[in-house]
Amino acid sequence: MATDIVVLAAGKGTRMKSALPKVLHTLAGRPLLQHVLTTSAQLPDARLLVVTGHGASEVNGALNTEGLLFVEQPEQLGTAHAVLQAMPELRQDSTVLILYGDVPLIALDTLEAMVGEVSEDQMALLTVVLENPVGYGRILRDQQQRVVAIVEEKDATPEQRLIAEVNTGVLALSAAQLRNWLPRIGNENAQGEYYLTDIIALACASGTRIKTLQPHHQEEVQGVNNRQQLAELERFYQLQQARRLMAAGVTLADPARLDVRGELHSGSDNFIDINAVFEGRVVLGSQVSIGPNCQIIDSVIGDNVEIKANSHIEGAEVAADCVVGPFARLRPGTVLEAGAKVGNFVETKQTRVGKGSKINHLSYVGDAQLGAQVNVGAGTITCNYDGVNKHRTEIGDNAFIGSNTSLVAPVRVGKMATVGAGSTITRDVPDEQLGLTRAEQKNIAGWQRPVKNT
Ligand code: UD1
Ligand code: CA
Repeated sequence: MATDIVVLAAGKGTRMKSALPKVLHTLAGRPLLQHVLTTSAQLPDARLLVVTGHGASEVNGALNTEGLLFVEQPEQLGTAHAVLQAMPELRQDSTVLILYGDVPLIALDTLEAMVGEVSEDQMALLTVVLENPVGYGRILRDQQQRVVAIVEEKDATPEQRLIAEVNTGVLALSAAQLRNWLPRIGNENAQGEYYLTDIIALACASGTRIKTLQPHHQEEVQGVNNRQQLAELERFYQLQQARRLMAAGVTLADPARLDVRGELHSGSDNFIDINAVFEGRVVLGSQVSIGPNCQIIDSVIGDNVEIKANSHIEGAEVAADCVVGPFARLRPGTVLEAGAKVGNFVETKQTRVGKGSKINHLSYVGDAQLGAQVNVGAGTITCNYDGVNKHRTEIGDNAFIGSNTSLVAPVRVGKMATVGAGSTITRDVPDEQLGLTRAEQKNIAGWQRPVKNT
């Protein structure tokens, strides 16, 4: 069954106190609206229509979902008026699902259940029972418990305001029904708005059944109106990620101190200490240990890797049995082959480090290729940039680079070659030879230290 999804996102979001349109504020690193689009796009034969108004061009530019269509609502005259703007884009026999750009955590199975209930003589409405229903539209039922209407808070009588079952705003119905009812909705109400909720009374009057469904969690239908609600939903989302990881066999030092802003795929028997932040697509093998305060972005980490505290890893591939950190920075294009070690205050970029090789302390290695079992001494720098172009450094298997060496690229240090500490290497060092540029040491006997002038 074809589903046309209409996402309302024209509102201003005044209470966010922000220059950024509300639906572009991020939850788990992605815009609120993107969550709704990514989830609903998974429905079979889905077509996504986003109704924009405030900040329309900014919203249009910020989202990347294929086949997305934007419809502008120049003036916000109410939720029914918003849906009306999308009417010309609806397919003839589709099911229409109404969602909201500021209600990010709606779940796919809830949407599937909603769409599954729509037929020629039935529509679906998502409701929730709240302890404090203030502000929401209330669900009115007759004596047989059939839904007959929704009344908005501002139009409700004191008795109606006692009703705890509220409208989440999410509904599903056939395009044919929507075409029939939507143009008949007026704006004679307390707010002078075209209420989409009036569709329920029209459906009821035409003999259409209104099937109500409930979400698994209240957070699924929680909207974001201010930054406090945004933070609450973020924490809910992150706790769900933490639970998913624990269920998959990951030990978390503290489920409340983990942030997953993207997709994290994890093997089992991993340990993640506090304040780990994962961004983009991260894949962890098994038996991985991640120390406190690490940020890992778009990277693949192999089995039995140890990442020590305060490491920053982006766009890297780390093979099995490597040790990284503490305080290591692996930048994009870093590949560590099995058993490599990158220690404290070491930065790597566009560099392949061969099997078992070590860069243990205070180094910068960029645009380089290191063979197996290389030892790079403390304070080694690849001078890869001449101010205009980047050049490559190659280091062969079993080479030994003495401490405080500058490798001025392009340059090659051969297999089993040695570079003496403190050298500035500007020419290739052949296999098995020693390269050394150090000035010879002079010792001066009887040296008198200067004395202080009084
Ligand atoms: C709406 C429902 C209410 C429900 C509540 C759930 C109506 C009339 N009322 O009330 O029953 O309990 O949601 O949160 O539908 N929007 C547009 N264009 C417009 C008006 C609104 O795109 O012209 C968008 C807003 O950006 C927002 C959403 O629709 O994302 C809801 O609009 P809002 O005015 O906040 O409706 P509520 O008063 O919350
Ligand atoms: Ca609202």
